[in-house]
Amino acid sequence: MKPQEEKGRCCWMIVGQTLMRSVSQAVRPAAAASRQKHTLPDLPYDYDALEPHISADIMWRHHGKHHAEYVKNLNMIQEQYLEALQMGDKTAQQVLKPARLLNYGGHINHSMFWNNLSPNGGGEPKGVLMNAIKRDFGSFETMKQEMSAASMSVQGSGWGWLGFNKVTGKLKITTCANEALLHNVTGLKPLLGFDVWEHAYHRQYDNSRSDYIKSIWNVINWDEVSKRFNKV
Ligand SMILES: [Fe+2]
Repeated sequence: MKPQEEKGRCCWMIVGQTLMRSVSQAVRPAAAASRQKHTLPDLPYDYDALEPHISADIMWRHHGKHHAEYVKNLNMIQEQYLEALQMGDKTAQQVLKPARLLNYGGHINHSMFWNNLSPNGGGEPKGVLMNAIKRDFGSFETMKQEMSAASMSVQGSGWGWLGFNKVTGKLKITTCANEALLHNVTGLKPLLGFDVWEHAYHRQYDNSRSDYIKSIWNVINWDEVSKRFNKV
């Protein structure tokens, strides 16, 4: 892990731990809240399956550590949030909200991300998705260029997105900061997301986010993206 990334992660972890302590002090150990726990989904392929485009080292850290941490924190925060609700403690609810959103968004975004990648991916989509891409961007290559440029434009940590606007009936490319959920922020239905947090590429590509983005197109699971598109 690069120092900068570790520093960044530590910041929110420490904030989270401080937050947990302050909320624990604010909220008495109320009756344990029973709530369904979130779980880390299995990857649909081995950690080394996306090499050379995404290394096994990146994949096991990204899935087995980063995503696992979101799930662990989310379960802990949700339990404390439910306690705060039961106690009617609005201050504690407010204090917990940012960490709750971050970890929930991280869990949802990554759960989708793994399925949008495949060792048999790459190439171009087919059928109705390809027709929609050509209609809304002019060509597949233009869509790729716009998605790549949007992902490059993310300041700090975040995601580049291809989404669908149900009101206009059109595909749209945009970005979200940190782990914000695309639908919550823009109303778009998420079809394909590029995780451009440093933890997604730094250990393999150093500072070159552009090389990572060039490579990730080789492992995009267009069948999965098409399934998503067909559902919306
Ligand atoms: Fe990530």
